[in-house]
Amino acid sequence: MTYQPASPVTTPSAPPPARPVHLVVNGVGTTLDLEPRVSLLDALREHLHLTGTKKGCNQGACGACTVLVDGRRIVSCLALAVQYDGRAVTTIEGVGPHPLQDAFVSFDGLQCGFCTPGQICSALGMLAEHSAGVPSAVTKDVSSSPPLSRNEIRERMSGNLCRCGAYNGIVDAIDSVESVESVSSTEGTAGVPA
Ligand code: FES
Ligand code: FES
Repeated sequence: MTYQPASPVTTPSAPPPARPVHLVVNGVGTTLDLEPRVSLLDALREHLHLTGTKKGCNQGACGACTVLVDGRRIVSCLALAVQYDGRAVTTIEGVGPHPLQDAFVSFDGLQCGFCTPGQICSALGMLAEHSAGVPSAVTKDVSSSPPLSRNEIRERMSGNLCRCGAYNGIVDAIDSVESVESVSSTEGTAGVPA
């Protein structure tokens, strides 16, 4: 047997230094000193104490961490905060009062509520996408602007899981918000999409 020397012991390198990251969160500008590895989700929850945005899977699979950046929905657990330097972030704390929130209550679109902030932020982004003519996987004619059918809602919201299974109520709530105009009419300084 040939002698195999042990691998040299390596000392972990020091984490990269923190750098200032400027975010406009719910209309309020703030600068945080963050290591480049800090996710946008952790920046919001751990540094700004905006705990409405939930950490579910922390790997992009559940949608609980959905926020809006410049009006577009993203899963904040897969986003590095430094990527969003200078951008406008809307969390559930910056939404509302909003008719979609009322609709979630009226139509039993929640049970424990853990997924609800992400559902609502995602629904706002989804409604803006639909309004802009973005097709989904179930849009038959992508050259048209299909109405927001329940099938379209289900498909477009499929990235947001609900462990309580409140899916029918969630679809009912979104379906009840009849037009994107009714959503955008409450747009405020928080950057909720038009
Ligand atoms: S916590 Fe981000 S997708 Fe699940
Ligand atoms: S309401 Fe409980 S996970 Fe959706």
